[in-house]
Amino acid sequence: MTSHSYLSELFSLDGRVAVVTGGSSGIGRAIAGALGRAGASVVIVARGEAELAATVDELAADGCRAAWVSADLSTRDGVRAAAEQAAEVFGEPDILVNSAGINLRPPMDELGEDVWDTTMAVNLEAPYLLGRRFGPGMAERGFGRIIHITSQQAHRAFVQSGAYGVSKGALESLARSQAEAWSPYGVTCNTLVPGFVMTPLNARLSSDPEKVAALAARTMVGRNGLAEDFAGAAVFLAGRASGYVTGQAIFVDGGFSVH
Ligand SMILES: NC(=O)c1ccc[n+]([C@@H]2O[C@H](COP(=O)([O-])OP(=O)(O)OC[C@H]3O[C@@H](n4cnc5c(N)ncnc54)[C@H](OP(=O)(O)O)[C@@H]3O)[C@@H](O)[C@H]2O)c1
Repeated sequence: MTSHSYLSELFSLDGRVAVVTGGSSGIGRAIAGALGRAGASVVIVARGEAELAATVDELAADGCRAAWVSADLSTRDGVRAAAEQAAEVFGEPDILVNSAGINLRPPMDELGEDVWDTTMAVNLEAPYLLGRRFGPGMAERGFGRIIHITSQQAHRAFVQSGAYGVSKGALESLARSQAEAWSPYGVTCNTLVPGFVMTPLNARLSSDPEKVAALAARTMVGRNGLAEDFAGAAVFLAGRASGYVTGQAIFVDGGFSVH
């Protein structure tokens, strides 16, 4: 066996279909690119059409099979419509990545029900509804991978964690519940846990050089995260190699959480 075929056996996503929410920006965009380059047909889901189209153009230029669905995942009807449209493109997905997320950060005293509701809808309910829609089919077909992007704030308070930290803590619990339900049928469910990653989500913090340097110093690697840092872990969790890894929270944070 050549090293190439050995690596393919472990990691190739040829013939798989992936749906990546938030695939038009930041971590989701990097993961969509990684899964596509590893062989999967990828459907990305977000609201902004220009960013979606630009991402798909970039993937297509790189030889990937990719498409986009514009949808607002902050409403249940929006999620349901997105799921049906996404499944129509390349068929029912084998891989679901929930990267769409919002972090509104009002201080706890000012945290209103509107922010609470929207945060839970996008960060927690959409992943739950998409899991309900796609998980049973994956289980029936005997293979599936569900990957949620959570946050160090699932584990600790950090810069007005408010509703955001709560939603991410619950998302890790959701992954464990999904893993319990579907792992016996070949469907693993895990989370990737970022530390501080320089993406549009963090535009305000990222524009303060002192804060950026202070955060980098808290990692072990000595720098903040980049979206591309998630590529390898995502391909691993999406492929055959990770078949015995389920219900786990895997930190991709340069050692931030253990420093
Ligand atoms: N960056 C970090 O330091 C960091 C740290 C910990 C965890 N995370 C988590 O990692 C994930 C990705 O974050 P990121 O930094 O890559 O953020 P980002 O660059 O802001 O990307 C967020 C993505 O989610 C989509 N989205 C937001 N609201 C949506 C809605 N209502 N309906 C559909 N799509 C929606 C956005 O597209 P549209 O706005 O066009 O809809 C975009 O594609 C999030 O779950 C975030 O909580 C990030």
